[in-house]
Amino acid sequence: METKYWKLTGTPADAEAYAQAGALVRAGQVVAFPTETVYGLGANALNPQAVAKIFAAKGRPQDNPLIVHIARKEDIDSLTTGLNANARKIMEHFMPGPLTIIVPKAEIIPDVTSAGLATVGVRFPINKYAQEFILACGCPIAAPSANLSGRPSPTNAQDVLEDMQGKVAGILDGGSCGVGLESTVVDTTSPVPTICRPGGVTYEMLTEVLGAVEIDPALLGDKNFKPIAPGMKYRHYAPKEPVYLLEGNAVELLPVLVGKAVAAGLRVGVLCDAAMSAQLAQLKQQEGILLSCWGESREALAADLFYLLRDFDRTKPDVILAQGVSEDGIGLAIMNRLRKAAGYQIITLEKGVLTLKGDKQLPAFMIQ
Ligand code: TXA
Ligand code: MG
Repeated sequence: METKYWKLTGTPADAEAYAQAGALVRAGQVVAFPTETVYGLGANALNPQAVAKIFAAKGRPQDNPLIVHIARKEDIDSLTTGLNANARKIMEHFMPGPLTIIVPKAEIIPDVTSAGLATVGVRFPINKYAQEFILACGCPIAAPSANLSGRPSPTNAQDVLEDMQGKVAGILDGGSCGVGLESTVVDTTSPVPTICRPGGVTYEMLTEVLGAVEIDPALLGDKNFKPIAPGMKYRHYAPKEPVYLLEGNAVELLPVLVGKAVAAGLRVGVLCDAAMSAQLAQLKQQEGILLSCWGESREALAADLFYLLRDFDRTKPDVILAQGVSEDGIGLAIMNRLRKAAGYQIITLEKGVLTLKGDKQLPAFMIQ
């Protein structure tokens, strides 16, 4: 399939791109588009054949529901049987924005879109390109992240093309996404609103408006809980190489572990902030260290994280060591993605002893 490409400029000249993309979606095709979180693969949410094409393009498991995107608040009314007080409050404060609410699903939403669940996730993105695209389609847009299933979500058009060229009808290129991590998903149907995926709208922001908010216990890596969001159970964001995530005091040992990996003859990828990168400057002279520095702030890390993880698939180190960050604010979402990328291979310091979580054996190079 030919994948049409449109570069968006934010000027009236974009009208033709939206018209063509909208016509393709109305004809039952899939078009990739930018949002403030990550790029999405959009199709008419009410057309089961069109939605099936999204699953095919991504290689996505059928039991993982899609989020339905709108570009006007009132358009949620036809998608749900009703909104409770919490859902209304969230909409009032955080929509449009990087957040999805789980609400009871209306009949018109086909089972393939909601994976047979009685609920549906609805999102109103704040990105202007996304809004223009949805309005041009004239229907609610089902859209997962525009990556092949299991890969990090794409945050620029080049990364979308890497996964989707030839598999979708078109791509709207709106440059880099701002937040860089997928939307916060909040279940409003539970007695206490529950975060099933942390994102740009933080736990602190939600509690300020709603009072009590819960975090799905499955997010903390406890295998005894089944995640509310089916998608959270899958291996995701993972580069092909083994990733170890250093948490808490173990972060201080990053330079030592990098040195050990190099001594063991490994090409080591390091994901760290600017301060750590400066500490590693000496080691960097040696061969075999691939440094991916994210700058100063955690916001910068969120914006670049998926790009940096994808970059490791291009540079192919033997092992990746990632520096953990504190979990307040956007840190909760960052650590959620980093832990998944690491397959929960988490290194901590317990009473001064380097430990791999879950009583597993440390990799050989760390012991030497
Ligand atoms: O930022 C985003 O949300 C992006 C952009 C494109 O909007 N979309 C996105 O979609 O990340 P996706 O399909 O990659 O992730 C949707 C997540 C999955 O973990 C899915 O299981 C969960 O939301 N989800 C969707 N509908 C749900 C429902 N009714 N109940 C529970 N979880 C749901
Ligand atoms: Mg996804």
